[in-house]
Amino acid sequence: MAKAAEVGYQSYAKRFIYRFDAQQSHTMLIEWLESIENAHFWLQATSTAHSLLYPKIPTPVGGITLDYPMMLAAGFVKGHGFADESTAIQAVKAQQNIIPGWRIVPRLVGPVEFGSFTRYPRIGNTGRVMWRDRRHLSTQNRVGLKNPGAQAAALFLSERKDQLPSQFGINIAPSPGVDDERESIQHVIEAMGVFIKRGVLPTWFTLNLSCPNTEDDPSGAQTESSARNMCGYVMQFLNKNQVDVPLWVKISPKLAPEQYATLLKVFHELGIKAVIATNTLGMPSPEDETLTAGVGGAILHKEATTALTLLRNASIEHGYKVDLIGCGGLLNGDSYNSFKNLDVVAMQYWSALIFRGPFAGAIILSEYERL
Ligand SMILES: Cc1cc2nc3c(=O)[nH]c(=O)nc-3n(C[C@H](O)[C@H](O)[C@H](O)COP(=O)(O)O)c2cc1C
Repeated sequence: MAKAAEVGYQSYAKRFIYRFDAQQSHTMLIEWLESIENAHFWLQATSTAHSLLYPKIPTPVGGITLDYPMMLAAGFVKGHGFADESTAIQAVKAQQNIIPGWRIVPRLVGPVEFGSFTRYPRIGNTGRVMWRDRRHLSTQNRVGLKNPGAQAAALFLSERKDQLPSQFGINIAPSPGVDDERESIQHVIEAMGVFIKRGVLPTWFTLNLSCPNTEDDPSGAQTESSARNMCGYVMQFLNKNQVDVPLWVKISPKLAPEQYATLLKVFHELGIKAVIATNTLGMPSPEDETLTAGVGGAILHKEATTALTLLRNASIEHGYKVDLIGCGGLLNGDSYNSFKNLDVVAMQYWSALIFRGPFAGAIILSEYERL
């Protein structure tokens, strides 16, 4: 069944996806999702396809039990960018679908991490911001945290609470360009707070300390003291408000070995339930080497497994209780296996959605089972 789904997707991709450049096809896909989000036929078809291809595999990880060991990573269902909060809120009030895919995509692929959302809306970077490299099964982007902002996203989702998927994550990122640490923490707490206040309680929250595609250097947020402050205050906020949603943290590839050990210690001490390793790898953009664009897919896989190995070593040595979630180049049975060998219980993918299609999760698992 998974094989047939893949053959179908590859012939579709040749005609409708690979014919256009990465950004064009992404835009077309998002527009299409936006237009079918409430169409009975597609809601029914996606649910049926999902139930045929994705049998439930209860997977305890990060303080919850996922229905399936693979999730769609942050950055696909993240919403439109807006210049300011009032425009974003107006769009919600005008019944615009500001987060295309919020309903259809989880029906099709299972658990999805929505976002990243920042406290205030962002237009993101302009010009060409997405590339794909079919030969190396890799993607590159400098989308730059384009999103509608937490207020509008929370309002939008709260008005559709009864249609929200049974499991989903919300990924919150610090506001780029905010240098004052207290203000940055305040923004993150406010962003989470608006979802909570509106009763949009995800299955997990992810704090994204690692976006390489903005004007900020993500390594700054991942020093021991910054991570401890940011994660500590967020945990305090969740505990104080008795929010029963586990916090996960997403980190970068290519940090210094001792930095992974230190971060895991901090996460363990603060009660963070899982760490997602990793976000994309910042590299020169294909069109302007003075700009950074994050690489995902096969090229990232080695860096992601290195990060996971270092995290796992620290965990074994010190008995840390933070689950590892693999992300980076999960594209087939082999990469699933390499994560599995590192005691990774759940995984996320983004590039596989492009190269293997909407049933990537099922296809990857069936390949792994055949290994
Ligand atoms: C176009 C694009 C946008 C992304 N946006 C985000 C984001 O907003 N927040 C985030 O945490 N990760 C984001 N990511 C990173 C992915 O979630 C994932 O960590 C990365 O692509 C590595 O997985 P992969 O190798 O399966 O692609 C984005 C990735 C892509 C390709």
